[in-house]
Amino acid sequence: MLDLKDYGIDMWNPEKIDSFRRTLLNWYDQEKRDLPWRRTTNPYFIWVSEIMLQQTQVQTVIPYYQRFLEWFPTIEKLANAPEEKLLKAWEGLGYYSRVRNMQKAAQQIMTDFDGTFPSRFEDISELKGIGPYTAGAISSIAFNLPEPAVDGNVMRVMARLFEVDYDIGNPKNRKIFQAIMEKLIDPDRPGDFNQALMDLGTDIESAKNPRPDDSPIKFFCAAYLHGTYDKYPIKLPKKKPRPMEIQAFVIRNAEGKYLIEKNNAGPLLGGFWTFPIIETNFQSQQMDLFGQSQEILETLSQKDAFSEHYQLQPTWHETVHKKLTHTFSHQKWSIELLEGSVSDDKLPNHLELQWLHLEDFDNLPMATPQKKMMAQLLK
Ligand code: ADE
Repeated sequence: MLDLKDYGIDMWNPEKIDSFRRTLLNWYDQEKRDLPWRRTTNPYFIWVSEIMLQQTQVQTVIPYYQRFLEWFPTIEKLANAPEEKLLKAWEGLGYYSRVRNMQKAAQQIMTDFDGTFPSRFEDISELKGIGPYTAGAISSIAFNLPEPAVDGNVMRVMARLFEVDYDIGNPKNRKIFQAIMEKLIDPDRPGDFNQALMDLGTDIESAKNPRPDDSPIKFFCAAYLHGTYDKYPIKLPKKKPRPMEIQAFVIRNAEGKYLIEKNNAGPLLGGFWTFPIIETNFQSQQMDLFGQSQEILETLSQKDAFSEHYQLQPTWHETVHKKLTHTFSHQKWSIELLEGSVSDDKLPNHLELQWLHLEDFDNLPMATPQKKMMAQLLK
């Protein structure tokens, strides 16, 4: 067990811990947000909410949560859902591995637990896609187990409470905040205790616009009392997403249908349909070699690359589109659209391609970059 003293943290005595719990929970009882997943004890529903809330804000999640549970009201329905419907349910939330993992976990629950959501922390932690934070959240909220749910919000609040001098962005330091929370968590109302910190961390103790004077726990907060609030939490800068140049091809056939492709490989768009795209990684050396504008060279080569890969010979249009950008967690795409038409629209069969009317695009799972491209086209 980690000793907090080694990290320069003096834990409070039991009376102070008790007083802290009462203060926080009293505040929560008066101020808690009325959220759909707080009106249930169904662990499946709570699980869905926690997965959605991992990277998405509460207000965005609410309609997705409700629709998801209409479409997949039970673990069994989720386990058996077709991929396209699953992705459609998640469309716009991003980080799609979350929903794929949920389905695998649902299948695990069907085979290993007879379709009943497991109630032991260790079993919950074994499920696909459930890390320590989510295991703690589900265990405490649905099963009243005294397990902390340590995310960025909780780390920020704890860092201020105890003036923790360790970077909250470094995953190695999570164990410090976990150890603090294990001492603090209320053993009788762990789910409310965790959710009180979530509410506090997303609003009054937020990262960008905190209102320290309004915090119900300000008189417990070392950083508040010592005038060091601005220093905490310590968060060192992260690596920037890698810039990537992407060329997208908007190709129409004689019937006015557009060419789209299913992206089967790759962590970013796997399973989604998009206009054909290729990454262009022409380096500046080409410009040096030919002494020509790199842009012209790139465009020529991209058209050739398209024809070769898709075995189509488009007539290219003059239309010039403004570049679009889309940022994933580790990549920043700059997307350029190139339009063309074909009369001979026979498709090679080694790729998953089809011709489709714009009106029918909604029936297939499409990720945000594709939606941005469509919006650009329809401008
Ligand atoms: N963020 C993550 N889990 C949450 C919950 N249960 N309530 C509010 N915000 C959350």
